[in-house]
Amino acid sequence: MKRVGCTVIAGGFWGDEGKGKIVSYLALRDKVDVCVRTGSVNAAHTVLFQGRTFKLHMIPAAFVHDNCRLLIGAGANIDVAQLESELHETGVRKRLGVDRNASIIELKHSSQDKKSEHLKSLGTTGRGVGPAIEERVKRSAKLAKDLPELKPFLADTVDEVNTAIDEGKTVILEGTQGLMLSLYHGTYPFVTSRDTSASAICSEAGVGPSRVDDVLLVLKAFITRVGAGDLPNEISRAEAIDRGWFEKAAGTGRERRSAPFNFELARRVARINGATELAVTKLDILYNECTHAKEFTKLPKEGQKFIAEIEKATGVPVTIIGTGPDALDIIDRRPTKLPTYLK
Ligand code: IMP
Ligand code: MG
Repeated sequence: MKRVGCTVIAGGFWGDEGKGKIVSYLALRDKVDVCVRTGSVNAAHTVLFQGRTFKLHMIPAAFVHDNCRLLIGAGANIDVAQLESELHETGVRKRLGVDRNASIIELKHSSQDKKSEHLKSLGTTGRGVGPAIEERVKRSAKLAKDLPELKPFLADTVDEVNTAIDEGKTVILEGTQGLMLSLYHGTYPFVTSRDTSASAICSEAGVGPSRVDDVLLVLKAFITRVGAGDLPNEISRAEAIDRGWFEKAAGTGRERRSAPFNFELARRVARINGATELAVTKLDILYNECTHAKEFTKLPKEGQKFIAEIEKATGVPVTIIGTGPDALDIIDRRPTKLPTYLK
C-alpha cells in the first residue's frame, strides 16, 4: 500500500502545528519520491527520527526517506549559511535541488529585520525574511542562480516536480507556518510576509491547483503562537504550564503563547485551504493515555470524541493523529477513512 499523487501539507493556525513530523512520517510510510520545501528560514520544522532531533529551516522534512529527491521551490527564500549547516547535519547533499529562481536572504536583511522598530513591534523572528521579500518585490533581489556556492544544486525544480506528477510518483509540497500567519488571510499586521495557504504553497512550488490530489491540513490539539497579535481565548503562562501546553519556539527559543483548540477557526481554515484531510498533532498532550498509540480504538473515549468533534465542525476526515514526538508516533486512519488510499 502506497499513496501516489501530489499532496500539499499546510498549517492551520499560527504555525508550529507539527508539519515537520507529519511530512517525515509520510515520507517514510508512503516512500515519497519528491518533496518540495517552500517558505523560508523563519519556519523551523522539527523531525525526531531514530533518536535524533533535527530543526529544519531549509531542508525538506522528507529527507528521512533515503530515496526522496529534495527540492527547494522557486518561491522560497534561501539563507545559504543555514542551508550549508543543515546539509552538513543531514548528509543529503546528493539529493538536493535548488530552484534557480529562489531568492536569497543576505546578512543585511536580517539586520534590517532586527533593527526595524515596526518589525520588532510585530515580534518577527528576525531572520530577515520580510526585508528579503521586500527586495524581491522591488525586483532587486539576488536569486539562487546568481550565487556560485549554490551552483552544484541548481535545478529546474518546477519541471522536476511536474514530471514526477506526470509519472504518477508520490509528491509532497511542504508548506510552512499556518493560515493565521498568512499575509492575506491571517491576523494582519501580525503575520508573516507571504501567503501561507495551500494555494500559495502550490504557487511557490510551480504546481497548478488541478494537479493536486490532496490537501492535508495540519492542526495541533491546542493552539500556540509566538510574537505579537491577537490569540482568541489565550490562557495564562501559568495555566499553560499546568496543562502541559507550554512550548518554546524551535527556531528562536521564544516562549509560545497558548489557547485551547478552536473549532470555529478550524472550520474556516479548512475551507480556505480546501482541506481534503486533517492531521491532528499532540493528542498525547491533551490526553496522556494516548502516548505512542498506533490505533484509534486504543484511544481513551474523550480522545476519540475530540477527534469526532473536529470532523463534525470541519466536515473533513481526520486521517492522521500524532501521539508522540517521534516520526512514527502516529495513528494512520487513511486506509479506512479514504477509500481511494487502498491501491
Ligand atoms: P517573520 O515571519 O519573521 O517576519 O515574523 C512575523 C510573524 O510570524 C511573527 O509573529 C513570527 O513569530 C511569526 N512566524 C514566522 N514564522 C513562523 C513559524 O514558522 N512558526 C511560528 N510563527 C512564525
Ligand atoms: Mg515551527
